[in-house]
Amino acid sequence: MKQVHLAAHFPGVNNTTVWADPRSRSQIDFTSFQHLARTAERGKFDFFFLAEGLRLRELKGRIHDLDVVGRPESLTVLAALAAVTERLGLAATVNATFNEPYELARRLATLDHLSAGRAAWNVVTTSDAFTGENFRRGGYLDRSDRYTRAEEFVRLSRELWDSWQPDAVRADQESGRFLRPGSIATVRHQGHHFDIEGRFNVPHSPQGHPVIIQAGDSDEGREFAAANADVIFSRHGTLEEGRAFYADVKRRLGRYGREPHQLKIMPGATFALGDTDAEAAEHAAEIRRQQVGPQTAIAFLEQIWGRDMSTYDPEGPLPDVEPAVEQGVSQGRVQVADRVAVADKWRAVATEKQLTIRELVIEMTGRQSFVGSPATVAGQIEEFVRTDASDGFILVPHLTPGGLDDFVDKVVPLLQERGAFRTDYEGTTLRDHLGLGGVA
Ligand SMILES: Cc1cc2nc3c(=O)[nH]c(=O)nc-3n(C[C@H](O)[C@H](O)[C@H](O)COP(=O)(O)O)c2cc1C
Repeated sequence: MKQVHLAAHFPGVNNTTVWADPRSRSQIDFTSFQHLARTAERGKFDFFFLAEGLRLRELKGRIHDLDVVGRPESLTVLAALAAVTERLGLAATVNATFNEPYELARRLATLDHLSAGRAAWNVVTTSDAFTGENFRRGGYLDRSDRYTRAEEFVRLSRELWDSWQPDAVRADQESGRFLRPGSIATVRHQGHHFDIEGRFNVPHSPQGHPVIIQAGDSDEGREFAAANADVIFSRHGTLEEGRAFYADVKRRLGRYGREPHQLKIMPGATFALGDTDAEAAEHAAEIRRQQVGPQTAIAFLEQIWGRDMSTYDPEGPLPDVEPAVEQGVSQGRVQVADRVAVADKWRAVATEKQLTIRELVIEMTGRQSFVGSPATVAGQIEEFVRTDASDGFILVPHLTPGGLDDFVDKVVPLLQERGAFRTDYEGTTLRDHLGLGGVA
């Protein structure tokens, strides 16, 4: 039976994360990371996942602080978590545009050593000028170049990781030599983005290559994933979209001499549970109202309309104003590609369903992927995986750090009963959990 893969996303800095709930705790305290990671490990999850952003989001030139603001650096957090977990994979999102291969390859290999083979790198490619200002490079990388850089970055990192033979360290007292002769290759790389000649200074790590995750949905992103990634973090919520994406990406693998099982597709997924389906639906609606407070509703509207909408009542009707066509007011978030078309669609829904601004935003900006009793949710997840709409999910809880507790206590046992999810870890490394096999 095809097995479900599960990962735990630490709540992020967008409105999915409900920080105003009395049960919500710090996004920085180590105890929060530890709680979520240990819960995921108790649930036998494949890995724990940290997102990253390299500039604070802004709205109308001010810090957007309706959502959580500020989070610590991922690899440092994961190194600390390596000490309080044993089997759980540890995945850091790190940008290929604003880092350097030699340095990042060292840090990832180090995490792989510290965790005994549990490190993963989610390669993201944001290259916008807004983020670039923090690096004094002001959008120096053309959008079309971001995947060529990421590709070269990953290839070079792998050369660095491969440059130490696994048995290079001999520590031979008799000869007085620490290394086996000829066991460390010099890496010579002259490419479009990087020019390196040197020797890597971290010994071969337990996984050989930390697991590579890709998050990005464009055609270039999919091709990059087919060539380089072990896991894709995608955004496809419905069975139909999921199946189309799954088939498209798995088909691309052949071009690179790869097998379908070597790339796991794990969309991000949110959930709301209740003892019954009806109770879960009520809980889901309550969470959505927490996620879209009155000011957040206006902020969403401004993002789409591209203009100041602060004079309108969020609990009142959608005003009859045209969207601005120029650059939006919010930065550090996904920009709306075609404002006029999106605004037209929103207007049509508001009129048809007689919604207030806030109700409209709740309706239009995503809902929980899985809503239901534990049995319903287990069934839905299993169906996605069994019918090749995904290989599993990266679960995004809405509360820090307890948002995964119920899922692990109530849904995981049902998946296990169905024979769709492991009852214990079978291997020790993240590559083992994902069924990727060793590095060739
Ligand atoms: C599910 C998902 C999660 C992402 N998470 C992050 C993130 O944490 N940090 C980041 O800088 N970019 C993140 N990205 C953005 C991607 O790296 C990429 O820059 C963006 O999707 C545009 O690339 P594309 O045109 O290939 O989709 C994410 C993208 C997706 C689809």
